[in-house]
Amino acid sequence: MKLSGHQLKDSADIAKLITELAEKAKSYHSQVDNVRPVQPAHVGRLNNLVDQVHSGRGRPLFYPYVGTGAGQGVYVELEDGSIKMDLINGIGIHILGHGDERVMAASLRGALSDIVMQGNLQPNLEYIEFTNKMVELASRGSRLRHAWLATCGTMANENALKICRQKVTPARKIVAMSNAFAGRSTMMAEVTDNPAFKEGLPEYHEVLRLPFYDKRDPQSAQRALEKLRSYIEQNPKDICCFTFEPMQGEGGYKVAPREYFLPLLELCQKTKIPVWADEVQTFCRTGQFFAYEKLGIGEFIDVCTVAKTAQNGVTLYTEEFNPKPGLIAGTFSGSSVSLAAGLEVLKILDEGSFMGAGGHIEKIHQNFIAMLNRLNESGPTKGLLQDAEGLGLMVAVTPFDGSKEKQLELLKKLFANGLMAFGCGRDPYRLRFLLPAVTTEQDIERAGRILEQSVKELT
Ligand SMILES: Cc1ncc(COP(=O)(O)O)c(C=O)c1O
Repeated sequence: MKLSGHQLKDSADIAKLITELAEKAKSYHSQVDNVRPVQPAHVGRLNNLVDQVHSGRGRPLFYPYVGTGAGQGVYVELEDGSIKMDLINGIGIHILGHGDERVMAASLRGALSDIVMQGNLQPNLEYIEFTNKMVELASRGSRLRHAWLATCGTMANENALKICRQKVTPARKIVAMSNAFAGRSTMMAEVTDNPAFKEGLPEYHEVLRLPFYDKRDPQSAQRALEKLRSYIEQNPKDICCFTFEPMQGEGGYKVAPREYFLPLLELCQKTKIPVWADEVQTFCRTGQFFAYEKLGIGEFIDVCTVAKTAQNGVTLYTEEFNPKPGLIAGTFSGSSVSLAAGLEVLKILDEGSFMGAGGHIEKIHQNFIAMLNRLNESGPTKGLLQDAEGLGLMVAVTPFDGSKEKQLELLKKLFANGLMAFGCGRDPYRLRFLLPAVTTEQDIERAGRILEQSVKELT
């Protein structure tokens, strides 16, 4: 007897309908193919929607942005009729850009499941397929062998911390980086090193800070190592983990070489301090699935967290770190749509020529950095877009004098001129780009023209 669910999954009729639906939707999405200014006839509607967001949640939007639900690649249509280049992608979610036909079709398949949200007690097939793919990808370059699903990066991080703490109980203190970002829960706000994100919250004094690598200061790696040594001496058996972003995101898109991480990781290994890599932002973006692969430090990782591009949160851990039953759970593990779409994204990135040396991601990185450096070297933008750097699809640059006012002014100007980026870092305040893996050379040239124009208008 063929089970009803299998009939549904294998139905040629349904597959055909899904393909037709995705193709039909694509015919609308594909109209969104270039930057377009605000259309006066639609401005009133957008303003009204933006006001509704403000009154609904009690806080205005950063940009006057409400999407119409149509977009293609790096282009997205807004309710005021404008089309923007979206180089921030929901702060890093849509790695394949807008309106990808395969992702849409996978989402439709997920939506036909009997349930909207899947849970840890009653999983459907999407839960298993997604988990298996995550374990398979992680196993390639590390000792990670298990994956536990969560609905966002913050929750994946909470699970990671609990797993580390249980492993070395009763150790309590966390070694984390200066300028770290770990999420928005009470505990992750504590791990995060930004006072603006925890105004009015109590301090729990559980986090010990290490300075991140500073390319201008050759002593920074040595200082970090000495600091770690002193923390270990001062807190015997009371450090539950060392957590780090392989490349700092919110902290300003700071990159560190393998040589910076290696002595820290070796010391943790020697002193049996669990190592947790927060790859919520870096996953899929560096030109390898995991930044620990890019840095060649996979063997040291005990726990790793991802979210964003995976369309779901995930905590990965080694067999040794598999927690006792009861420690991590939760009602939701993800929606049928997010799990089906997440799996498809991972398959597309794995099958295509995105990863590795000479892959799309590396090319996009090189072309985007070259464009920023070109603007910084000559013409009206000379010296006004400094320090372009990052890893893979994550790129940042310091505009003007690196002040918050100038950064904000430029972000708003770019938006008005059709390009969406976002900020990161503090002193200097930087422009951050999370580029989709489908960004073309033409897109990069267009982004360069908008940047040049916008900087010019502010000087
Ligand atoms: C490094 C890092 N960790 C954790 C988080 C939190 O993830 P989420 O916003 O999905 O809860 C983020 C989000 O920006 C992040 O960049």
